[in-house]
Amino acid sequence: MKIASPGRVNLIGEHTDYSLGYVMPMAINLYTYLEGEKSEDVVLYSQALQSSARFSPKNFERSGGWEDYVKGIYFSLQKRGYDVGGLRGKIYGNLPIGSGLSSSASLELAVLDFLKEVYNLDLTRRDLALIAKEAENEFVGVPCGVMDQMAIALGKRGHVIFIDTESLKYEYLPFPKDLQVLIFDTGVRRELASSKYKEIKDIVTSALKKIGKRASKEITPSDLEKLNGEEKIRLEYILRENQRVLDARDALKNRDIETLGILLLEAQWDLAKNYGVSSPELDYFVKLAVKNGALGARLTGAGFGGSAIALFVELDNRGEFILKEYKKRFMHNAKYYIVEPSDGVGRCMD
Ligand code: GLA
Repeated sequence: MKIASPGRVNLIGEHTDYSLGYVMPMAINLYTYLEGEKSEDVVLYSQALQSSARFSPKNFERSGGWEDYVKGIYFSLQKRGYDVGGLRGKIYGNLPIGSGLSSSASLELAVLDFLKEVYNLDLTRRDLALIAKEAENEFVGVPCGVMDQMAIALGKRGHVIFIDTESLKYEYLPFPKDLQVLIFDTGVRRELASSKYKEIKDIVTSALKKIGKRASKEITPSDLEKLNGEEKIRLEYILRENQRVLDARDALKNRDIETLGILLLEAQWDLAKNYGVSSPELDYFVKLAVKNGALGARLTGAGFGGSAIALFVELDNRGEFILKEYKKRFMHNAKYYIVEPSDGVGRCMD
């Protein structure tokens, strides 16, 4: 059995999922593969990390390593009453680890989909996303929202996914065929668990509580008058970003790629100036991309380093050129990838 689990980028709707707002990610054609078979214990080898892990699916503890993502899936399944056996296999692929393209959610979903297939678990794609999110929140201890897991579970070739992260209703929108997606990995690593992510999420949660709203998509401008300081600034951003996701959905429906590009840029500078999660490297890449013909560009994922995306009508060798320019200023080990919106996690037939 071989499972291919993609990475993801978010087109727009950043830092909105943990307040139950709107997001618009896509799965991408960079993958984590899990190849193996049923077994009594869990025995896994990660090629990228050159590291093995072994544990009993009946008895395991958090160990602080990459295998916690695998254990987390067992933890979450057991919490739901699934008694699942082990697996023996290897993990490899071309999705970079720690670049902000959701390599951890990709691994979680590879393991979960593998277990679903070999142990015939009756789980929908939405279940897969929720189980993987719970694994990450409650076992690994990363307080992420549901966007990454939804994108990887639900991805559809040629489409982005508009998701209401409160109701978990989603809609596939065709991604314009004349647009190319460049991912730029700034080479700056960031650890979500140890970053400011949790601090920001807590402020947003407390602000929502003060205005008596559960989901940020319900915030109105008058709610914001009850807030001040950082709480106000953060919810103001979220209000604007939720609206931008709705506007981006309209732009995609109208095949209006210029407006889409402008929305991406507005989102980037709002994230940079008001939400405070960009970095000099991300800002510089966005400027370089626009200077070289991108319709729009922005950081993708949590920020604080990691990756950005840019949309081009004619990419030619601009990726290479941008990389060279970037390296004149920053010494980091940056890279770029040209990707396409792709199918979500699933069995690999080759
Ligand atoms: C990370 C989290 C997501 C989301 C983004 C920011 O990728 O895993 O749930 O919150 O940051 O939009």
